[in-house]
Amino acid sequence: MILAIESSCDDSSVAIMKASDFSLVHYEKISQEKEHAKYGGVVPELAARLHTAALPEVILRAKEHFSALKAIAVTNEPGLSVSLLPGIVAAKALATALNLPLISVNHLVGHIYSLFLEGPIKLPLGVLLVSGGHTMILGISENGVISVLGATSDDSFGESFDKSAKMLGLGYPGGPQIQNLALKGDDRAYDFSLPLKGTKRLEYSFSGLKNQVRLACLELENSRIPYSVIPRLDRGISSENSRIPSENSRISSQQKANIAASFERVACLHIIDRLKLAFSSQKWAHFGVVGGASANLRLRGMLENLCASYDCELLFAPLEYCSDNAVMIARAAVTKYHNKDFCGSLEMHPRSSLENLKII
Ligand code: KG4
Ligand code: ZN
Repeated sequence: MILAIESSCDDSSVAIMKASDFSLVHYEKISQEKEHAKYGGVVPELAARLHTAALPEVILRAKEHFSALKAIAVTNEPGLSVSLLPGIVAAKALATALNLPLISVNHLVGHIYSLFLEGPIKLPLGVLLVSGGHTMILGISENGVISVLGATSDDSFGESFDKSAKMLGLGYPGGPQIQNLALKGDDRAYDFSLPLKGTKRLEYSFSGLKNQVRLACLELENSRIPYSVIPRLDRGISSENSRIPSENSRISSQQKANIAASFERVACLHIIDRLKLAFSSQKWAHFGVVGGASANLRLRGMLENLCASYDCELLFAPLEYCSDNAVMIARAAVTKYHNKDFCGSLEMHPRSSLENLKII
């Protein structure tokens, strides 16, 4: 069995998987969402403290399996450095105490493996990775080599949901909040423009759309109402976009729902619009969507139509393993274990690229 630790952002998670048949023996995840919600985004110092408190407890609750372990795996890249560190320290301590080898796992490779928790690995494969930190189109060749075909030049897809939710005064994480509110709204109420329309660049950009949401909020608010300025707390929020309507917001629930629905429609259309470019130059028999934001139901529906029109099989991760979790890290680690891909000195890489990494 392999024990895997994931702590790259705001979830402290441990999973144990059997190396022989990939069956899950143990899994626990402590999410910090509630603690970060009042700030509207992940606060790194708070995340570090919560990981440091939670990880020893979560690891100890898996103690009955320690004698059957063959290796300790941990996410070492990419992520918040202060979040990665407690996981890496815990993994090193455990590996030393139990005299076991260490396996390092790239968090994004872990997300790709979430597609293969319930079935065999299917290659070659196209992948859309949509999370809070990343938005990428990947091509994975027959022999498992990853190529980054396109990525976002500013905000990620998930981040644009988080920031739009914040501007609408909704909670964190914003993805599920926007999705739920959008169900009650008119998705044509606002004619937000499609990002990068008319260009042929295989690239995403969500900052302009986010700004359109901000302007829509501003217009509905009386401009004399004071705006609260939230300090830079989450990943790369700009001072301009941290201006959110105050609690005295005059935006009605229906207006908020209309903005949420219109934003979600255009954000998903942008994903599909660029994917059409990718599909026109690639021949994918399989296409997978991974990352926390792959839980979005509107996006899933649009992807189903897109893949059907290209006669391509669409793969999803089970909903509970779309967001960050140690199960996907354990699955990636089992392949590395079979390849005897252990690491001597485990280093942390908060910013790392996927380019030319292999998944098998
Ligand atoms: O993969 P993940 O759990 O963490 C990172 O590695 O970033 O992704 C979290 C992101 C957040 O931005 C969250 O708002 C977004 O995924 N998300 C969604 C939905 N559920 C989670 N975005 C859109 N629609 C959803 N239903
Ligand atoms: Zn993630």
